[in-house]
Amino acid sequence: MNPFDQKPADVNKFMDWKTIYPKPYDKNATNPYSKIRTILMNGTEFEQVWFLHQFYRHETNNDIRRQIALVRRQEQQQQKRIACLKPLDETILENTIGYEQLAVDLTAELAQREKNMYVKQALDFALLEDFDHLYRYADLLEMDKGILAENLVGRYTEIMPGRPTISEHRHPYDDVKRFTNYKVSDPITKLNIGIITAAEQQTMNYYMNVCGFYYNDIGRKLYQEIGLIEEQHVTLYGGLMDTTCTWLEAWLEHEYTECYLYYSCYVNETDKMLKKIYKEHFEQELAHLHLVAGLLQKYENKHRSQVITNGEFPQLLVLKPNIEYVRNVLKNTVTLTGYREEYKDVADLPEDAEFFNFQKQVNDKLGDIASHKTIHDYIKKKGTDYRFQDAPHPVPQLANRKVDNTTVGRQA
Ligand SMILES: [Fe+2]
Ligand SMILES: [Fe+2]
Ligand SMILES: [Fe+2]
Ligand SMILES: [Fe+2]
Repeated sequence: MNPFDQKPADVNKFMDWKTIYPKPYDKNATNPYSKIRTILMNGTEFEQVWFLHQFYRHETNNDIRRQIALVRRQEQQQQKRIACLKPLDETILENTIGYEQLAVDLTAELAQREKNMYVKQALDFALLEDFDHLYRYADLLEMDKGILAENLVGRYTEIMPGRPTISEHRHPYDDVKRFTNYKVSDPITKLNIGIITAAEQQTMNYYMNVCGFYYNDIGRKLYQEIGLIEEQHVTLYGGLMDTTCTWLEAWLEHEYTECYLYYSCYVNETDKMLKKIYKEHFEQELAHLHLVAGLLQKYENKHRSQVITNGEFPQLLVLKPNIEYVRNVLKNTVTLTGYREEYKDVADLPEDAEFFNFQKQVNDKLGDIASHKTIHDYIKKKGTDYRFQDAPHPVPQLANRKVDNTTVGRQA
């Protein structure tokens, strides 16, 4: 499929109210990967809307600004439609389990197909952190509501400690990485960076908004703490984007990513209603893509192939279990931390590393750290933590279900 070879529909077409309010999925019966695809596409639209607002505020030509407003309104309509696929009876925390399952299985998938080793390293690195978030939220959910997260994730994703959240708090300097040169990048690399940045940003925004809505203190604190890690993840991934693209070039990349994702969702989705939505949105995205290619030609005198060389979609994105892959990354890299543009085993950090200084400032008293306290309190109440594992934990220090480990990846 090459979206540039497809004939686009009229770009001046909007959905009516009935269309943008779909029937939600069934939180108990719908496949977990169908559910998390809706989170992914919600985040993709969110990124698109905010990208276009920023572009709009930096653009002086009102002819271009009108085109931005036109496309952005449609992105907003798509976002509204996707957002209301979430059913009324799905709680904030149940939805959160979906966010972290998406973070795990999407990141693992992107990492396995990534050829740029520097980008792959970033994906593997943050993978272990979102994997740990899933475990902390799952224990909160069981403690507060008696709901087993393994049923929500369909047992496709394991639930056990990753790089402990307490160890993820790094100085802001240590998440700033080198940007990628898109002119010489594989199409998969550009797609991976765009997709994961939007998905992590969606999680960051979600926690920014919902942390005040959880109904007890420990939960509100957990959202605050993990929300700050998502800020780190958006810093990490957003920093990989090519900073030298023009706004129009970046817009074309965005539309291409949307086309690619909706087409991937359309092909992989088994739920008929969702499949129909993805097909319709894909067709709208085609119209956006062709419009932006025209703007690029008109205002920058560049053919779209100077930005997207071929256009033929590479392998489509498939969301599926990655249990063995995650176990391997855990076993080999759980003790890494960020060190400016690189990663280092925490045991190899110099004594005056910013990491230790930052840790001392935010993590002074263990009892104040919500990610630790959630598990600690759970164990106190029930004797062991809540996990869902296929086999023993691949990291021996994280195998003990009676004590929450707070040193792996944090202390030498
Ligand atoms: Fe869109
Ligand atoms: Fe996370
Ligand atoms: Fe994350
Ligand atoms: Fe679009």
